Amino acid sequence: MEVFVYKQYEEMSKTAAEEVADVLNAKPNAVLGMATGSTPLGVYLELVRMHQRGEIDFSHVTTFNLDEYVGLPITHAQSYHRFMHENFFRHVNIPPQNIHIPSGTTTNYRAFCDWYERRIVDCGGIDLQIVGIGSDGHIAFNEPGSSLRSRTRLKTLAKQTIDDNARFFDRPEDVPIYAITMGVGTIMEARQILMLANGVKKADAVAAAVEGPVTAMITASALQMHPNTKAFLDEAAASKLKMREYYDWIQFHKPGAPRV
Ligand code: GLP
Repeated sequence: MEVFVYKQYEEMSKTAAEEVADVLNAKPNAVLGMATGSTPLGVYLELVRMHQRGEIDFSHVTTFNLDEYVGLPITHAQSYHRFMHENFFRHVNIPPQNIHIPSGTTTNYRAFCDWYERRIVDCGGIDLQIVGIGSDGHIAFNEPGSSLRSRTRLKTLAKQTIDDNARFFDRPEDVPIYAITMGVGTIMEARQILMLANGVKKADAVAAAVEGPVTAMITASALQMHPNTKAFLDEAAASKLKMREYYDWIQFHKPGAPRV
């Protein structure tokens, strides 16, 4: 895992958006893996700006989102369908038929999850997957204990995740307790992964994911086994990394590396 630390969230988001743009410039029909949560909002904002300036075109892009709450209609203010539409899809030109988000309202979850997995393969696999990290170290909704080979499935959310996400709902009891999520194994098949984290609340999870042992207790730690993962962090999220100086040294001395 390559670690990049940025002074500000905005700089981190801008550089992450440039990574996405690089993928699209090399492959206009790339398949992008999208994430929700507050962390990637800056990346989406920057990608929308780049699109409005005519710098990137999404007309041949296909997307797959990581996850969705079970039981929320797609129009619900906190559904990930709505989040993606409001914050990204309605501002860019991805053909609607190319957008995939797990269904939180299907009547047959098992069949839907199997179809989602097949659809990713049929579209050629994910070229670049964006992921955030939960404060319990999860990626997507792969809570502690999830198999590191797990596939898209129905998942019960951990109490910590429900508590973390309660801030978005009117009442804590409104937070769904189930989600459909890509598995760790599904995410690991992406050709390139960008893990984003900002804020001190993520510092412990980031340190465990980047420098701790690979364990199903911190599913983001599986990314250590991925051949092409970059962690983009702000100072606060990086504050508990023991090898911080080493990462800066590597980036500074790498031929052609961005000076962060
Ligand atoms: C949810 C999502 C994750 C996300 C996490 C962190 O649990 N399923 O994909 O990474 O929240 O969210 P935030 O970026 O708001 O901290």
